[in-house]
Formats: sequence, structure tokens, C-alpha cells
Amino acid sequence: MVLRPLPARLLAAWPGWRTACARGASRGPAGPGRPRAGPGPTPERYRVERLPFSTVSAEDLAAFERAVPGRVVTDPGALEAANVDWLKTVRGCSKVLLRPQTSEEVSCILRHCYKRNLAVNPQGGNTGMVGGSVPVFDEIILSTALMNQVISFDEVSGILVCQAGCVLEKLSQFVQERNFIMPLDLGAKGSCHIGGNVATNAGGLRFLRYGSLRGTVLGLEVVLADGTILNCLTSLRKDNTGYDLKQLFIGSEGTLGIITAVSILCPPQPKAVNVAFLGCPGFAEVLQTFTTCKGMLGEILSAFEFMDAECMQLVGQHLHLAIPVQDSPFYILVETSGSNAGHDAEKLGSFLEQALGSGLVTDGTMATDHRKVQALWALRERITEALSHDGYVYKYDVSLPVERFYDLVIDLRARLGLQAKHVVGYGHLGDGNLHLNVTAEAFSKALLEALEPYVYVWTAEQQGSVSAEHGLGFKKRDVLGYSKPPKAVQLMRQLKALLDPKGILNPYKTLPAQA
Ligand code: FAD
Ligand code: LAC
Ligand code: ZN
Repeated sequence: MVLRPLPARLLAAWPGWRTACARGASRGPAGPGRPRAGPGPTPERYRVERLPFSTVSAEDLAAFERAVPGRVVTDPGALEAANVDWLKTVRGCSKVLLRPQTSEEVSCILRHCYKRNLAVNPQGGNTGMVGGSVPVFDEIILSTALMNQVISFDEVSGILVCQAGCVLEKLSQFVQERNFIMPLDLGAKGSCHIGGNVATNAGGLRFLRYGSLRGTVLGLEVVLADGTILNCLTSLRKDNTGYDLKQLFIGSEGTLGIITAVSILCPPQPKAVNVAFLGCPGFAEVLQTFTTCKGMLGEILSAFEFMDAECMQLVGQHLHLAIPVQDSPFYILVETSGSNAGHDAEKLGSFLEQALGSGLVTDGTMATDHRKVQALWALRERITEALSHDGYVYKYDVSLPVERFYDLVIDLRARLGLQAKHVVGYGHLGDGNLHLNVTAEAFSKALLEALEPYVYVWTAEQQGSVSAEHGLGFKKRDVLGYSKPPKAVQLMRQLKALLDPKGILNPYKTLPAQA
């Protein structure tokens, strides 16, 4: 192999750099004594010790430069955004970000990292909600941003094969031009990558209709910790040959391998889409409306989302969006998707007549026109963004039996009183998934202690899940035991040790810290 000299720009950035996020480490541009933008280093807020990985040397940088020439980022300014999560709650201090374009390049990087015992943090669009997408200390960030090519699309079956760094919205546009849609949609579509979606097993807004990525993902290509390329990128609907290995990587949050390509089944684009945004007088009526919806809309029901008044008020206040229905304690968004506009309109009309007539719904508005449909969806999709403008956000993403769904929000309002600015509930009611969010002016340990483990114990008592769709990442890894028995956690650790014996892939994430 020919050794090329290390470019001067890399060396210039290197000397004198600290290697770990020790307490009191540099806080970036804000500097000591001045207000700082975003969070301080993660180890300042959370108890976590750096594991004994190597630190990146000049020789390592030279090896990376050979693997991905011109795509080794070491400029601190350019690294800032990649070190901080979307919610601005955790901050790593990685000094290197790598931008491979191919699976072979990912393999080459991992082969080197494995040999040198260097920790690696895979990163897609960095929209994750649980601190999994950014380093905790100085892990190398491996970004999939340049792995953004569609490999193939079959216009008969609707099977899309693409690289992991394709942005979800771009894929949606690509398949829509061919009369298909992606089987998943979420508010972060403009930034999140399909690889990140698969790595988190993202649920989102189409789950009710098209189900989990565990069903729609047909194949994956994954690079293992030691650089081995595992090609399970099949495009078959049916394949019962041995263990279904791809399932291991779906939802593994970058801890078992780096997903480099995805094969996914896209449904045909529905010919008629209607959205109704409705006000309900109480939570019992929200549930009855859901039952009525399922009964009367049947196969055309494609989403059933709910939001409480407090979260809609924050959408109005922070995003200046007009809420078309006023003064309701609860709101629901019902979507239908079908193949016959007249038939769907008739069904939706009868449902609305019944819901309004029986007092389940008190007011509402409906849209069929694409632009208006999108405007109604924005009221729901942009809640996360509205909350982020309200201060520090404590986020909980739980699965609960729907009849107990909103009790947790009510309980918490009583428990927290004035400690919290807002306690809001919204989410994918059709999937039994509640997003419970608590906002405060700033992060407070006292408020965190009032919330945790209370929320997790409450959820476990209902046999719920402490992470319905966002995963565990860094912030939730220690609560896995509320939803899984010790034997299952032990087996997960064994699988991790088998696939990543040195633990270099996304350390400090998903699995609980070892006692
Ligand atoms: P990142 O945030 O970059 O990474 C997430 C995790 O996956 C990290 O642990 C990372 O290490 C790992 N990872 C990323 N890429 C790879 C890869 N190629 N191989 C292996 N590991 C990888 N989630 C939902 O489930 N439903 C929603 O409705 C939803 N709505 C959202 C709305 C907003 C406004 C925002 C900001 C987030 C929302 N999310 C939602 C959270 C979320 O999980 C997703 O946005 C998305 O799936 C993450 O994709 P990403 O590319 O941004 O991944
Ligand atoms: C949502 C994200 C936060 O449903 O999961 O808006
Ligand atoms: Zn969600």
C-alpha cells in the first residue's frame, strides 16, 4: 500500500487537542463565564466514565485519509453540529468525523478502528431523541451523509434498494414520482436518513397502516465491527432460510453494525387522501372516536393521532400556526388513504356525521386538497419542534394500554405542579404510543428526579414499554430493565459481545452501564 503524507490541514487541527470530554473540558465557542449555546459536555450532567479505547493519533488520521480521501473532517467548527444532538441535551467532543461514500470505505474504516481499538459513533441525520446519535466522549463520528444513492427501484413490486444515507424525504419524492410512497413518514423526514430510521426502528405517522420496519424492510447490508461486510440485501417478500439476521440490526441503534444499504417495500401511492382535524370534549370520547373510526372507516383508515390542548397551544404560540379548531381539551387527526375518492369521501362523511351527532366530536375541519392536507399534518408533525422552543424538554415515549394512556399525563401534572412549565401528551394513539413531554426553563436535576423513575415505574406497572419508538440511545439505556427481564438483557449483552467483541460500536448506548 502506498502511504500518502497527512494533509497539512489535518495536522494543523490536531496538536494540543484534548482527547476526552473530561470534566471542565473546553465548552466550545461560548467559553467560560459567558452564556453557552446548547448543553455542556455529557459527562458533566450524566454519570459516565470513558472506557479504555485508544485515542486518535496522527497515524490514524493518515489511515482515514487513505480510506476516504478528502473526507476526514477535523475542523472544530465543522464538528460542532455533529457533536450535539437535535434536542441540544447532550454533547460529545469527537475530534474526527468521517464521510464514507461506499460500503467498502466503511469496511476499511472499521477494519482500522477494530485493530486500533478506536470507538465509533454511527450518525445519520442526527435527529434521534435519546442521545444515541452523538458521541459521549471522543468517539469517531462515522456519518452516512454521502452514502445517498438509490441503487434500484422495481416499479412492479415497489421494492426500493438504496444506500443508508438517503434522506427520507428525498426517497419519498423519488418513489412518489413512480406512484409509490415510503412505508414510513415522520416529522424529521427532511433530515433523517433511512439507515437511521432502520437503526432506530422508527415508527412514525404511517405505522397504523403499513406497520413496522420489521415488516417492510426486506434486506440490509451491514458492516460489522471488524469491517466484515454482511450482505443480507435481498429483495424477497418471503425467505425462510435460517435465522432472519437483518432483524438483529433493525432497532440496534448502531451498536451491532453499521447499516450501509437498505431494501424496503414501498406501498402504491393512494389515489385519495383525506385528513380530518377534530376536537373532542374528553379523553373517553377520543377513545370512542377511535373505535368508531376503525368500525366505520375500516381498510381506508391510515392514521389516528391525538394531541392535547396544551400541546396545540404551544404549536400556536411558538410556530405561529393557526389552529383551525379552538377550545377543545383534545384534538385528533384522522387520515384516510384509499383508491376511490368518492367511496372514501362517502365513508368519511358518514363517520363524521355519526361522531358529531353523538357528541364524540364537537368541531372539526377536513381537507382533501394536497396543500391543505399538509397544513393539517403540520399541526401534528411540528409538535416536537414547538416543544423545543419552550425550554428544556424531558421526553418520554411510552407504549401503554390506550385506556390508561392519558392518566399518566394527568398524574404528572398533579405530581409536578409548578415545577414544570408544561406537561403535554400527544402521539400515535392508533398504535398505543404516547409522547409525554415536560418542559421547563432549563434542565433541573430536581425535576428529573421527580420524573424518573416515576414515569418508568408507572409504565412498567401497566406492562407498557419505556421506549415505544425512539430507542434507548444514551439517555434511556439504564431503564431497559423496566421493559425487559434480566435474562433478555443478558442475552442482548451476549449478542453484543459476539458481534462487537471489543465494544467499539456506539459504546455507552442501548445496553445498561455495567455495574
Ligand atoms: P440519527 O439520529 O443520526 O441516529 C439515531 C441512532 O441510529 C443512533 O444511535 C445512531 O448511532 C444510529 N445510526 C444512524 N445511522 C445508522 C446506520 N447507518 N447504521 C447503524 N446505526 C445508525 N421517531 C419515530 O420513531 N417516530 C416519529 O414520528 C419521529 N418523529 C420525529 C420528529 C422530529 C421532529 C424529530 C427531530 C425526530 C423524530 N423521531 C421520530 C426520532 C427519530 O428516531 C428519527 O428522527 C430517525 O429515525 C433517526 O434517524 P437519523 O438518520 O436522524 O438517525
Ligand atoms: C413524533 C415524534 C417525536 O411522533 O416521535 O412527533
Ligand atoms: Zn412519534
